[in-house]
Amino acid sequence: MSSDRSDQLRAIRDAVVNLIDSPLYEYRTSNGYYPVIGQGDHFADIMFIGEAPGKNEAETGRPFCGASGRVLDELLESIDLKREDVYVTNILKDRPPNNRDPLKQEIKLYTPFLERQIEIIQPKVIATLGRFSMEFILRHFGALQANQKISQLHGAVIKVRTGYGRASVVPLFHPAAALYNAGQRATLEEDFQVLKQFDAPSQPGTMRLL
Ligand code: URA
Repeated sequence: MSSDRSDQLRAIRDAVVNLIDSPLYEYRTSNGYYPVIGQGDHFADIMFIGEAPGKNEAETGRPFCGASGRVLDELLESIDLKREDVYVTNILKDRPPNNRDPLKQEIKLYTPFLERQIEIIQPKVIATLGRFSMEFILRHFGALQANQKISQLHGAVIKVRTGYGRASVVPLFHPAAALYNAGQRATLEEDFQVLKQFDAPSQPGTMRLL
């Protein structure tokens, strides 16, 4: 079974690796960057979705492995979770130049991969990290809250209907926001407590890079 999911995720990786139509492909290859597909347990109950890989991530092929990743690890630890208990990915699988905001065309090109990842992993909870991710996911699932702001929705549990059944979306601020702002850090810590009700991994997760 697990190899089914891993095989399907591997197919996504192969498609992204060969995504020569992407406006970010040339930037990836000329810098020796890797695409960043995702990392964590392929049977995770909680999937975290960020915006796009930064420099550290593109250099290693791992999501959230830089400064915001350290914040994410600490927040997970605060609710007794480790990276291998969850699955972490991004909307874009390639780094935009100088960490600029993703363009509409890029979001359109990369989101089919994210949609597939969600269908394969079938998380009970989708925790969005930052505004881009929240807006995409709420729109994708046709949530009524889709036009509300992250300042109104952070920490809420929004029920959505997915292709594999019901799931909850929990919008969270991006961990980078906590790096230089103690207030945002405290808000993130509080909002992470909301995830506690879902974090009952029946067995230790398996860390996979895919
Ligand atoms: N920020 C993101 O949104 N994703 C990463 O993987 C790293 C930083």
